[in-house]
Amino acid sequence: TPLKLIRNFSIIAHIDHGKSTLADRLILATGGLSEREMTHGQVLDNMEIEQERGITIKAQTVRLNYTASDGETYELNLMDTPGHVDFAYEVSRSLAACEGALLVVDAAQGVEAQTLANVYQSIEHDHEIVPVINKIDLPAAEPDKVKAEIEEVIGLDASDAVLASAKAGIGIGEVLEAIVQRIPPPKGDADAPLKAMLVDSWYDPYLGVVILVRVIDGTLRKGAQVKFMAAGTTHLIDRVGCFRPKIEQLNELGPGEIGFITAQIKEVAQTRVGDTITDARRPAAEALPGFKEVQPVVFCGLFPTDAADFEKLRESLGKLRLNDASFSFETESSAALGFGFRCGFLGLLHLEIIQERLMREYDLDLITTAPSVVYTMHLSHSKNEDAQTIELHNPADMPDPNRIESIEEPWIEATIYVPDEYLGPILKLCQDRRGIQKNLTYVGGRAQITYELPLNEVVFDFYDRLKSMSKGYASFDYHQIGTREGDLVKMSILVNEEPVDALSMIVHRGTAEARGRGMVERLKELIPRHLFKIPIQAAIGGKVIARETISAMRKDVTAKCYGGDATRKRKLLEKQKKGKAKMREYGSVSIPQEAFIAALRMG
Ligand code: GTP
Repeated sequence: TPLKLIRNFSIIAHIDHGKSTLADRLILATGGLSEREMTHGQVLDNMEIEQERGITIKAQTVRLNYTASDGETYELNLMDTPGHVDFAYEVSRSLAACEGALLVVDAAQGVEAQTLANVYQSIEHDHEIVPVINKIDLPAAEPDKVKAEIEEVIGLDASDAVLASAKAGIGIGEVLEAIVQRIPPPKGDADAPLKAMLVDSWYDPYLGVVILVRVIDGTLRKGAQVKFMAAGTTHLIDRVGCFRPKIEQLNELGPGEIGFITAQIKEVAQTRVGDTITDARRPAAEALPGFKEVQPVVFCGLFPTDAADFEKLRESLGKLRLNDASFSFETESSAALGFGFRCGFLGLLHLEIIQERLMREYDLDLITTAPSVVYTMHLSHSKNEDAQTIELHNPADMPDPNRIESIEEPWIEATIYVPDEYLGPILKLCQDRRGIQKNLTYVGGRAQITYELPLNEVVFDFYDRLKSMSKGYASFDYHQIGTREGDLVKMSILVNEEPVDALSMIVHRGTAEARGRGMVERLKELIPRHLFKIPIQAAIGGKVIARETISAMRKDVTAKCYGGDATRKRKLLEKQKKGKAKMREYGSVSIPQEAFIAALRMG
């Protein structure tokens, strides 16, 4: 397809403003699906339906052919982008593959905080942004007010925003015309050596690893020998194609086009998002700019609640990794929790997604230890070892404190958008978390705050706090800005004088006491009484910084049974036995599984 007839775009929308419905409408209007297929459910985000049709779950890009009012038939590539900060790099590559975006705003809800971060990213990629005011069929729709808001809050001209109802099928033709007329065609040189960007990849049981590409220069042909420049590997392209959304095989992808290739690659880990694919025989002189190796930044332990599930957990993690090379896992053992895995993730949401999938899709019951970041430790020499620098992923592996010369921790720069009325508490939250304020400006009725924060402080429920303090209106975005030295110490939690490895954590000395106090108070509530007194302590080195005591109790469950009823008595005893099965014997203290989970949940 000639460049002037290609349009590559994505859709930006707040959750529920109608992104999927609009995407389905565009597919329907251009003949990619029949009305009957469409009424079966949303195409872009319905796993079951996608599986039924034999198209891939991650069909992220759909190619549409649209004959416009100028009589020309255009190739439209609609790219879906993941919507969260943890996948910021993937998002940035998807955006780099497009020249424009539709900004979908609900006519009754208006612009919402979360939309802002995405719009700004899109603007940074020099996208032409077409505002679409959706749901104009609703009685509460106020398109003029929303237009004014788009202009005031985002600073985009909304005078020729398209008014639409994705549900009722209103304005769909106008959206298609706007894509063709307002979004610029891609640029590229057909005669230059091949340069294509690896936008995304996933594992498909039938096709193997499928790679989504955007060709910049040259042509990507079936049967060609290509080189992945960052990975340094060469592969033979055995399939080239696109999704309509059904798979269509093609002979080639020309400059400006988006499509997929397969090359008998077995593992997603061999394909790196942002890599440059070039011709092995006539390679490009330089790779595309912006390649970044993504590294896990948040680590935690995942343990099966039932020790018998250990192998099942290993298998499940292996399966998930087939499709997600950005998380890592290795075996770990804990006195409190038994055998499990130390896992690394791109961020907290990524952690939650994997955890959720293990529980839902693989039916595993798991305990997650407190998330930790990667610390760089500079150690002095000791009798047996030279001075060295190590990376610590697990607080339980903390080296001898006497050998620690200094510890560096990762820092981030966070951008927060929040309506004015919630600003105060959020500034305090950032301040309490050792944040350094860099900037505070107003965009419309919203504040945009920039803070430098230690990542360590953000992995502990920062995001949840931010959301609850702002009634869900604050949006949060961050990127790493390197490591800085910090006054960090390992805090141990001792139950009945014994340290519980799964509960130890690395904290800043300044916040250690508050966090230690919180932890022992919670544990006091969570650990049942025993026949003896149980001290619960938080300690740094040998020094106790917080302490609670669980007083002794005679636990006689059958005492409630007023003699007689034998069945009731037996039932109670059985219940107690079951309860015991879920206990972890800790020294002479039994700690119920839930106590760990609850204690860990709060951080
Ligand atoms: P996520 O997939 O959760 O990100 O949401 P989304 O932005 O893709 O929104 P989706 O298309 O799932 O639509 C959200 C809800 O709004 C659904 O119940 C749709 O039926 C409804 N909806 C979408 N477009 C319209 C519209 O034009 N008018 C009305 N009344 N409802 C709409």
